[in-house]
Amino acid sequence: MSSLQSKKILLGITGGIAAYKVNGLVRDLKKRGAEVKVILTPCASDFVTPLTLSTLSGNAVESEFYDAKGNWTNHVEFGLWADLFVIAPCTANTLAKMAGGLCDNLLLATYLSARCTVMVAPAMDLDMYAHPSTRRNLETLASYGNAIIPAEHGELASGLTGQGRMAEPETIVAKIEEQFMRQNPSVLKGKKVLVTAGPTYEAIDPVRFVGNHSSGKMGFAIAEEAAKRGAHVVLISGPSAERLHHPMVELHRVTSAREMHDEVFRHFDTVDLVVMSAAVADYAPKNIAVEKIKKKDDELAIEMVKNPDILGEMGERKKDQFLVGFALETENEIENAKGKLSRKNLDAIVLNSLKDDGAGFGTSTNRIRIISKDELREFDLKSKKAVAADLLDFIEEKLHR
Ligand code: PMT
Repeated sequence: MSSLQSKKILLGITGGIAAYKVNGLVRDLKKRGAEVKVILTPCASDFVTPLTLSTLSGNAVESEFYDAKGNWTNHVEFGLWADLFVIAPCTANTLAKMAGGLCDNLLLATYLSARCTVMVAPAMDLDMYAHPSTRRNLETLASYGNAIIPAEHGELASGLTGQGRMAEPETIVAKIEEQFMRQNPSVLKGKKVLVTAGPTYEAIDPVRFVGNHSSGKMGFAIAEEAAKRGAHVVLISGPSAERLHHPMVELHRVTSAREMHDEVFRHFDTVDLVVMSAAVADYAPKNIAVEKIKKKDDELAIEMVKNPDILGEMGERKKDQFLVGFALETENEIENAKGKLSRKNLDAIVLNSLKDDGAGFGTSTNRIRIISKDELREFDLKSKKAVAADLLDFIEEKLHR
């Protein structure tokens, strides 16, 4: 579940060209389960229409202190309703008025009366953004406890290039999520989490290996989601082209199952949670040829030996760690997954099936079922990022109990 679920977000829009991006922001916030109300400064409606915003938000959009019939718009109620007030884009003019306590429109009156946290995403031309008065106004707002989402560097409406562009809607959403997570810290905050990802490659000779189609996407998404929730994450990955974005993930790259085994057990005793999403090869060639094997006979037999069962060994050695495995099945799925859950002494197992379109290897989506000792929970096909969030919600629920 997103930290935005059922949160009340008041969005204040001021009159700058970046306002055109805000329709997407409203849609993203709604998708994550937030309730959104919008207020505009009078100039903002030159850039975005109240009709679009009321349609996207599902709520009336306000910009005046009173309507045509003389009915008062209660700015105090807006301020009391909101869990968070986000002003995006915030022009240099509105910024200065906020810093000075001016109150000549509905947005500013709401700002002065809001009791919730206020986040400000400035947007203006580079010289305006660098001007000492703007810098001082931003510092003043920060000193009031407002959170500033810094403007980004890039091409500006003036044709110049520099810092002043409003942060992209996805950055603003991420900052809002972080804000709510700080208010309601996750059970994983401060915990040490070990995640494995990707395939393992078992060498046959210096140029060939036995491997599988795992891309690492699922494991990387889990590692990033755990880090977003405040965990310190150790990610051990087999060969994968995936890249990391979160600074709280410590990445160790390995190649073979044996290397993954050794790296996992360097960390195992100190972690609180393990999610084993790597597709570890069950067998490896008994002997690795020193030189490239030459093409000779019509048939080539490679003798294989069992790799260590990393998860099984963790199940035997575990003390207080919460252990989650993955099962990639093609038949008797639930029965096989349940067998692995009990044989490997796991707390939960995530079943994904190659029979489901868009699930399993390589794709950006997955469909999972999570099986624990007392329940089986089914989920729809989702992006691997959303699957990672579902899985960690499930784990948090269990850890909470
Ligand atoms: O990387 P992606 O392209 O995003 O794909 C994700 C995935 C399909 C690889 C992932 O969702 C997944 O299903 N991973 C587990 C695949 C697998 O190896 O399943 P298994 O049923 O063979 O193994 C069961 C569990 O034992 C797994 O947690 C596995 O990591 C672990 N295992 C397996 C063999 C072994 N020698 N040691 C192990 O620890």
